[in-house]
Amino acid sequence: MAGEGVERLFDGVYMVGGKLATVNLAKGHRVYGEGLVELGGVEYRLWNPYRSKLAAAVLNGLKTMKIAHGMSVLYLGAATGTTASHVSDIVGSGGAVYCVELSERNMRELINVCERRPNMLPILGDAMHTDIYSGTVDSCDIIYQDVSAREQAQILLENSRFLKKGGYAYFVIKSQSVDVGMDPKKVFESELKNLRGRFDVIETVQIEPYDELHLFTVLKKL
Ligand SMILES: C[S@@+](CC[C@H](N)C(=O)[O-])C[C@H]1O[C@@H](n2cnc3c(N)ncnc32)[C@H](O)[C@@H]1O
Repeated sequence: MAGEGVERLFDGVYMVGGKLATVNLAKGHRVYGEGLVELGGVEYRLWNPYRSKLAAAVLNGLKTMKIAHGMSVLYLGAATGTTASHVSDIVGSGGAVYCVELSERNMRELINVCERRPNMLPILGDAMHTDIYSGTVDSCDIIYQDVSAREQAQILLENSRFLKKGGYAYFVIKSQSVDVGMDPKKVFESELKNLRGRFDVIETVQIEPYDELHLFTVLKKL
């Protein structure tokens, strides 16, 4: 039961004083300058939809939220850990977030975040080359992918080997990374078409005004 002034939206996801939040797994510590709010003995971390596409999707009416307590998540394109840290709050200490990131610069900041969060594991590497982490990542319940790379559908297909049958993928399509000259709608269609036969499209969510030229999608592995 959420306390007074707190509304539960999904497992581990709340509205606190009208703002989206998760319960801070690393009490007293911020990841990206976000606000911390103490209510009823619980420390909430405000979740900025302008910094996190998952937060934007939740605020824009995402219905299918399968990321929950105890789950194991393969996170592709973790950057400096903004969204990954909220996913870490949601899955809690019984869950795991395997954070794959290509940029060494981002990785340095990500490691600092992971040091305070035992359920987050940083992996420096290209998500296209899954053999690098196949010995580390076990089968997972969820893939969360937000990579600024050209072959986005291809990266998801490569990584689907880790996803349990019936598992969900949160797949953010960034049209500018695939083709800057193409109509974004056409890019979204063609990326989803590349996944046909391997995934069902469960839901798509527009994330404007928080972010443009992206489509947030929820897929289920067949
Ligand atoms: C938009 S940012 C991710 C933001 C992050 N998901 C968040 O919400 O906090 C995209 C990230 O993908 C990373 N990236 C691009 N290509 C990649 C690849 N092939 N493998 C792993 N990471 C990649 C970039 O270095 C960048 O940090």
